[in-house]
Amino acid sequence: MIAFEFNNPTKLIFGRGTLDALKNEVPKYGNKVLFLYGGGSIKRSGLYDNVIALLKEIGAEVTEQGGVEPNPRLSTVHKGVDLCKSNGIELILAVGGGSVIDCAKAIAVGAKYEGDMWDFLERKATPQAALPLGTVLTMAATGSEMNGGSVITNEVTQEKMGWGSPFAYPAFSILDPAHTFSLPKDQTVYGMVDIMSHVLEHYFHSESNTAVQDGFCETILRTVIETAPKLIEDLENFELRSTIMYCGTMALNGVLNMGMTGDWATHNIEHAVSAVYDIPHGGGLAILFPNWMKYNQSVDVARFKRLAIHVFNIDPSGKSDEQVGAEGIEALRAFWNSIGAPSRLADYDIDASQIEVMADKALRFGPFGNFKKLNKEDVIEIYNMSL
Ligand code: NZQ
Ligand code: ZN
Repeated sequence: MIAFEFNNPTKLIFGRGTLDALKNEVPKYGNKVLFLYGGGSIKRSGLYDNVIALLKEIGAEVTEQGGVEPNPRLSTVHKGVDLCKSNGIELILAVGGGSVIDCAKAIAVGAKYEGDMWDFLERKATPQAALPLGTVLTMAATGSEMNGGSVITNEVTQEKMGWGSPFAYPAFSILDPAHTFSLPKDQTVYGMVDIMSHVLEHYFHSESNTAVQDGFCETILRTVIETAPKLIEDLENFELRSTIMYCGTMALNGVLNMGMTGDWATHNIEHAVSAVYDIPHGGGLAILFPNWMKYNQSVDVARFKRLAIHVFNIDPSGKSDEQVGAEGIEALRAFWNSIGAPSRLADYDIDASQIEVMADKALRFGPFGNFKKLNKEDVIEIYNMSL
């Protein structure tokens, strides 16, 4: 374990019927609220009306911004920053999935900054303040509801980059698993792939004395593997939605990786794909992660063996360590296939033509990855393996 500090300031409000908590939470931060949402799912599910009714009950002055895209765009962030500045917004309320929440975080820091908040993504400046943010989560996936990270796409330059700040943590997040009932099967699968990928990014570290952290990671992976096949057949099952929602938040709120630094290369490689092709993040990860694993298995054969045995129940008897690890990687691929996740870039009609461009985007800040540093040739090879 390496030395660490842990401070997660987000108040989590989890369970059925918790939307009512808005009445207590919102007034703590002010009366002028920017209500931010996506492309309309919350209108179809009725959540929009419920939020509006609660905000009305407490007399909040509401400014609305809908239409946040999956893979949220910089122009949408700019629109939100302008609304905040011109309407004296005191709290941003993001209702949606990771894209809406990430966009809200970018608006929150942009509203307190004189320049263009894209400076933060280019590492030209660091956020010094933010408007407070509350969230109502409708999709279990990113963990954005309880972390300080955000990913924004600059649609003009076709760059998709992550940034993070202690100022970007939501002040409160309301997680009612019933709000995810309407999430269709494909997005539910992408979310579960993303959750597992976050755990795997932590799992591929090179610290010692991490028995507890590794065990936490394996428990979440096994739980998603057990739950996913049942959930995709029963999308309105409250217990199953609860389990996955809890897994999603725990996978990326800083708890799993106390005392260790994960890898995060696959996320970087995927962001470059969705920057160019605008594909769902979880779909991209399902294609790329097993190939990153194959490519890097020799870095730490024992770790891959452990994953295979502890998570995928591979029987090691009579097999080499490499073989056991390789069977674990195949088991992950087979599991994701079995729940309907894509396995090749071709599934999104992506061919080899933009590989160089994507590799350059992934390498924007130089070689990356903590388990193994990847350079351009490595990234190109992983894309080629994924065609
Ligand atoms: O826009 P609406 O109409 O709401 O529809 C969304 C969207 O089309 C729909 N949806 C969400 N909740 C729903 C629903 N449809 C019906 N019923 C519901 N209850 O699902 C679609 C996808 O939503 P989105 O928010 O884009 O998905 P997700 O939560 O996977 O977020 C993806 C974004 O987060 C970034 C990704 O790169 C991507 O840009 N990430 C953010 C991270 C973070 N902040 O920590 C980490 C992640 O690794 C990830 O990179
Ligand atoms: Zn992710």
